Amino acid sequence: MSELSVKHLLGIKYITKEDIELIFKTADHFKEVINRPIKKVPSLRDITIANLFFENSTRTKLSFELAEKRLSADVINFSAAASSVKKGETLIDTVNNILSMKVDMVVMRHPNPGAGVFLSKHIDASIVNAGDGAHEHPTQALLDSYSIRERLGEVAGKNVVIVGDILHSRVALSNIYALKLQGANVKVCGPKTLMPKYIESLGVEVELDLRKALQWCDVANMLRVQNERMDISYFPSTREYTQQYGVNKQLLESLDKEIVIMHPGPINRGVEITSDVADSGQAIILNQVENGVAVRMAIIYLLASKIKQ
Ligand code: CP
Repeated sequence: MSELSVKHLLGIKYITKEDIELIFKTADHFKEVINRPIKKVPSLRDITIANLFFENSTRTKLSFELAEKRLSADVINFSAAASSVKKGETLIDTVNNILSMKVDMVVMRHPNPGAGVFLSKHIDASIVNAGDGAHEHPTQALLDSYSIRERLGEVAGKNVVIVGDILHSRVALSNIYALKLQGANVKVCGPKTLMPKYIESLGVEVELDLRKALQWCDVANMLRVQNERMDISYFPSTREYTQQYGVNKQLLESLDKEIVIMHPGPINRGVEITSDVADSGQAIILNQVENGVAVRMAIIYLLASKIKQ
């Protein structure tokens, strides 16, 4: 297969295993490119991309911008906090005004689940979902799987546990879809109050005991507690959460094997993960960030190839 099955990347739910394989093969090429002394290729000289961020971001925003610039695309950046959204302009009006400046692709982060799908019904440009509320974060899941593949050789057959605030996490949902598509075994672990009721219908097992989950897995993806999405208390205290669901060096050393530790960032050091784990050789957190640029270059390149047809 040489092209994606989709015009937009709205979620992992909408793509195929073959799409993921193509994205990873293309990312392998771009990873080699960005490690050369000259890191830029002219592939997208005729493409203009708008990065629309209606919610805060460090990694995703910078990673997309760098990926676009490495591909020689023209890039414009929009941050809702400093825009006319504050004066009451709607999402569709905002985007249509930006698109009238001859923009080909939109990368959008938005607090509302389904914002990308909604937009795709109203505009012609290709859309990449950079995180929509507690729904999906497809590029994060793809760079996560790419990083597992890089560290362990393949994703198929690996045991992966996603730990923490599953209920509010777009990273968890996209990772579950992506890992299952590639044939990994997936468990989720965290307080019962942070487990969505439908979770087992996604083909994952719930394990409430962190030690058992770590003993079972090859990879543990530690999630941040999403305090900004919580309107009530889901556990008694942060201290208690950390005691039950935080990883520290002592816990990892008590296992009878060495597992890979991941985290999408931003990290709450000392809450879901201690610094001695986050900064250890077992953690591939900065490899995930590095791979994010190559994976996003691949996604943008492949979607742009469809625009040019
Ligand atoms: N992983 C992630 O989405 O981080 P940011 O919120 O900083 O983009």
